[in-house]
Amino acid sequence: MRLSSLLAVAASAVAALASTASLPSYPIANRNPYISAWIRNDQASDFPSARPYFWMGEALTWQVLAKVDAEAYCLFSCTNTTVPPATQLDLAFTATTTTVRLQASTAVFSLEFFSPVSPTNYVRQSLPFSYLTVSVSNLTANARGVLPVVDILNEIDATWTGQGSNVQAFFGETTSGSRYFVVNGTDAVTFGENTQQAAWGNVVLAAHTRYGAVSWQQDTGLNNAAQLATNGTLTGKTAGYVPSNHLALAYRVNGDKSKCTRGSGDGTSTSPSVTFALGLEQDEAFNAFGEPQAFYYRSVVDAGVAPAVDYAFSDFSDARAEGHDVDALIVQQGSALSSTLGNNYTDLLEASLRQTFASLEIVIPADTRDTRKANAWMKEISTDGNVQTTADLLPKAWPIFYVMAPDMMRLLLNPLLEYSLTWTADFGFHDLGKLYPNATGETVAAQEALIVDQTAVMHWMAYAYQKASGDTEYIKPYLGPLTRFADYLVDNGLYTAAQQSSVDSIGATANQTVLAMYSAVALTAFGALTGQDNYTAVGRQFADVIMAEGVAGGHVTAHFGDPASSWISTYPFGFDKMVGLGTFNETSYELQSDWYAGQLSTYGMPFDSSETYAVGEFLPWCAVTSALDVRDGIMNGIHSFLTNGQNNSPGPNWWYVTGASAGTWPGTSNINKPVVGSYWILLAPGLYEES
Ligand SMILES: *[C@@H]1O[C@H](CO)[C@@H](O)[C@H](O)[C@H]1NC(C)=O
Ligand SMILES: *[C@@H]1O[C@H](CO)[C@@H](O)[C@H](O)[C@H]1NC(C)=O
Ligand SMILES: *[C@@H]1O[C@H](CO)[C@@H](O)[C@H](O)[C@H]1NC(C)=O
Ligand SMILES: *[C@@H]1O[C@H](CO)[C@@H](O)[C@H](O)[C@H]1NC(C)=O
Ligand SMILES: *[C@@H]1O[C@H](CO)[C@@H](O)[C@H](O)[C@H]1NC(C)=O
Ligand SMILES: *[C@@H]1O[C@H](CO)[C@@H](O)[C@H](O)[C@H]1NC(C)=O
Ligand SMILES: *[C@@H]1O[C@H](CO)[C@@H](O)[C@H](O)[C@H]1NC(C)=O
Ligand SMILES: *[C@@H]1O[C@H](CO)[C@@H](O)[C@H](O)[C@H]1NC(C)=O
Ligand SMILES: *[C@@H]1O[C@H](CO)[C@@H](O)[C@H](O)[C@H]1NC(C)=O
Repeated sequence: MRLSSLLAVAASAVAALASTASLPSYPIANRNPYISAWIRNDQASDFPSARPYFWMGEALTWQVLAKVDAEAYCLFSCTNTTVPPATQLDLAFTATTTTVRLQASTAVFSLEFFSPVSPTNYVRQSLPFSYLTVSVSNLTANARGVLPVVDILNEIDATWTGQGSNVQAFFGETTSGSRYFVVNGTDAVTFGENTQQAAWGNVVLAAHTRYGAVSWQQDTGLNNAAQLATNGTLTGKTAGYVPSNHLALAYRVNGDKSKCTRGSGDGTSTSPSVTFALGLEQDEAFNAFGEPQAFYYRSVVDAGVAPAVDYAFSDFSDARAEGHDVDALIVQQGSALSSTLGNNYTDLLEASLRQTFASLEIVIPADTRDTRKANAWMKEISTDGNVQTTADLLPKAWPIFYVMAPDMMRLLLNPLLEYSLTWTADFGFHDLGKLYPNATGETVAAQEALIVDQTAVMHWMAYAYQKASGDTEYIKPYLGPLTRFADYLVDNGLYTAAQQSSVDSIGATANQTVLAMYSAVALTAFGALTGQDNYTAVGRQFADVIMAEGVAGGHVTAHFGDPASSWISTYPFGFDKMVGLGTFNETSYELQSDWYAGQLSTYGMPFDSSETYAVGEFLPWCAVTSALDVRDGIMNGIHSFLTNGQNNSPGPNWWYVTGASAGTWPGTSNINKPVVGSYWILLAPGLYEES
């Protein structure tokens, strides 16, 4: 059964099994390209001294301290204070949540860093807030039966704005109980970026009185910590902000000593729990060809920080419940592979969900807020920041949407297909803008020349949407350009002119076999999309040529006519199999599977004969057309790299497989990209699921 249909049924009975696998970095607040906070592997065993960072590397200030009766403890990132650290007990993650537990004397604190992922609720998915729930357990009442007072402080500073010292801060409260600090730029640039951080909008830290009394204070980090340690309740100081100050909110729970009774119902609890929201509110989120777009949630929520914060708290319990369901279903789905892979595949699913969804933003026109005009925009994070990249980006993330969120494919395709109606070239385009979040369009002269690749993936992606959704009407307005693109591939897609494919290292070379595969799959996809068998026939004929002329030494070579020393990962086979087109068949799979078996080592296999590194997102595509033992060797290669403790980058998707640096990330790029959504391909209906 498709995961998206499973999500529609009631909460699963499967317990959400958290993973304790080691990751290069742990996501802690990851909602969109501008809310992306991580903890490095080499700091993750001690959250009290760890420093969160924005994916690009900038240090973020985010500290959590607590006080239990007379004693204060540092729980997260506060070794600069004189408050002593609690002792970390463990760290685990589910698909939506990273949880750390710490011991403070006899009390046990749990910090749940929850970033909602909602495959179908676009209001929730687009709300740019992440949540931190701090709970404390094992509180013991004193001799008179009184539970200890607990104060929990959470603070941030202007590092979240990416705007240096050109910042200002404000405190606000709402009649429905929200209390919040805002920090924003004095010289904000709408749709601008500074070292990848958003140069506009309001960074918000918020609390809500439903969880306990809330106090606040903006002051130096040391003063905030000292106030917590000596008093518990913050001073309420909001004046005199300087950019190095911290904006602190603190909850007091179990504070009503007059009640002198234990348990709930009187404001005291043996295991109280409080929730903070942290995010980036932007009135205008994205620039679609000069027309400002607002987040989808604005279809039901008024403009501004206060309504957004109130909404975030009003939605929290439902978001949390959905998060638990998503977590449980992912564990259940991953278990379909557990007979040979144990929990390893589930680890990969859990490690990739937030990263993939946090690369996109779901928006509506800012003026009309018409949800029929909703689109999803994706950023090519860490490589070049392009908008809605066809060749290099969207198709690689496609499997996660194919499996769990088919309609997200429609939201992502909308801008591409609409743009294709105005695009006059016979082949497709590379992207819709060079620098996110500005969609400005493409020109033939400006584009990276991945001509066949970017043309073919339009058919791949459109067919995957049609197959998963069953919606055969959607594509009809766009058949003009798609037919032109298909005809271009018929004429130019087999023996291709010198050009790149999506793995740049192969260079702009002619006659790449993978490009011919792109065309073959695109043509059978277009045939299936439109019911025109003649396109399917050309796709199959291309496949025959590839598997005859593109094979030497018992494997596919990188180019037609290459010697047998040349080989390449035939990843388009995987997409073809995912959508059930059958352009390539079992005989071709077996040939490659046998070859891969000889290339495998601990960290998977290199992309081709000229490289020593793996392209992570294409490994699972090779795995699904391989024999089961080869499949498992490939998937365990990804797992070995991610969990070997030698890397600290955020969600890297390439690594050395051979040589002295095997198991390490080459550095600088290919981090925090949504292409890890490709890991979900094994869950495609009909491949391995147990039913
Ligand atoms: C703690 O102090 C170090 C050294 O002065 C500094 O680099 C770091 O930014 C500080 N951390 C925080 C969270 O302020
Ligand atoms: C819970 O508290 C009791 C004392 O009240 C202590 O003996 C016990 O070790 C604590 N349990 C944990 C898990 O910390
Ligand atoms: C900064 O936040 C304050 C308080 O919410 C708001 O009045 C102001 O317009 C914001 N500035 C910008 C540039 O958004
Ligand atoms: C997006 O365009 C605006 C002008 O509309 C510009 O100020 C901003 O810097 C651009 N953003 C990026 C990331 O280039
Ligand atoms: C502690 O906080 C309370 C409540 O805000 C305040 O009345 C009191 O003066 C504070 N004491 C100190 C020492 O800060
Ligand atoms: C590409 O392969 C075809 C068929 O083998 C051949 O005719 C052509 O010369 C090759 N092109 C280049 C640039 O090598
Ligand atoms: C396929 O058939 C259609 C309808 O007859 C025709 O318009 C189109 O050009 C044909 N395409 C190919 C590649 O044969
Ligand atoms: C499998 O595919 C190859 C290449 O397309 C083709 O030559 C062969 O006939 C196919 N075999 C079967 C049994 O369909
Ligand atoms: C899971 O992956 C690890 C490498 O990270 C490997 O050592 C282990 O054997 C794998 N487990 C199974 C059941 O394949």
